[in-house]
Amino acid sequence: MDGEVLQLRGVGVRRDGASLLRDVTWTVSEGERWVVLGPNGAGKTTLLQIAAAMLYPTEGKVEILEEELGRTDVFELRPRIGIASSSVAEKVPAGEKVIDLVLTASYAILGRWQEEYESTDVGRAVALLEALGCTDLIKRTFSTLSEGERKRVQIARALMPDPELLLLDEPAAGLDLGGREDLVARLAALAGDPAAPTMVLVTHHVEEVPDGFTHALLLRSGGIVAQGKVDEVFTPEHLSETFGLPLAIDRHNGRWYARSLR
Ligand SMILES: Nc1ncnc2c1ncn2[C@@H]1O[C@H](COP(=O)(O)OP(=O)(O)OP(=O)(O)O)[C@@H](O)[C@H]1O
Ligand SMILES: [Mg+2]
Repeated sequence: MDGEVLQLRGVGVRRDGASLLRDVTWTVSEGERWVVLGPNGAGKTTLLQIAAAMLYPTEGKVEILEEELGRTDVFELRPRIGIASSSVAEKVPAGEKVIDLVLTASYAILGRWQEEYESTDVGRAVALLEALGCTDLIKRTFSTLSEGERKRVQIARALMPDPELLLLDEPAAGLDLGGREDLVARLAALAGDPAAPTMVLVTHHVEEVPDGFTHALLLRSGGIVAQGKVDEVFTPEHLSETFGLPLAIDRHNGRWYARSLR
């Protein structure tokens, strides 16, 4: 690979006359850790679904892991991408065991049927769940978990196929303060691991950006406001334009904090 994990050129998505994304040109190189930030409805999830080869754009060209969307077999591509998103979590069949939810990620499927798993796969699934603090949840049913527990299990599932690209859509949404801080710390550790995949994390909150994230893309109404290195993108001007109100932003010990100036 020449180092480009995602390459979007002039990407647009239209649905029912609405423009969900427009003229998105964005390159993610190997090893980078990106945060995609923007208000509700900005198009963040739509962008992530394109990056996950789950949605085709109406305009433009998309290359994922050097395969061109529309010219490649997405069923071969998808197992190379790990995704944790509530749109995936909603599709988990009732009664699905946590361990099976993680194991089935090797095949990029949901719902255990009759696949045979190698004991090394089971060992890896257990190790990932342990690393995410889910040791006590291994035998539970996914539907019985709390929001925070579900988030951590979904990240274990996303990491299971040893993906080249890891996509996280609002991993801290619905977590309490302790749960958020715990998750942000785990994601900072993952971001600092040179063996970890290239990452794209979607959030509404700069406070949820883990230390070690290198780049940021700001989205508003389907269009890019700014993109590049985090330090250069997280300015009061860019943030204020993205969220449509005057904002101040500070950094302390590798974490970011924003507040309204109104
Ligand atoms: N079929 C559709 N027709 C019209 N608009 C749609 C359709 N599907 C999605 N949208 C709109 O597209 C916009 C972008 O949606 P998307 O889910 O990508 O936003 P988001 O940035 O992830 O928002 P959130 O932060 O709330 O998750 C939203 O305004 C949504 O209402
Ligand atoms: Mg979304």
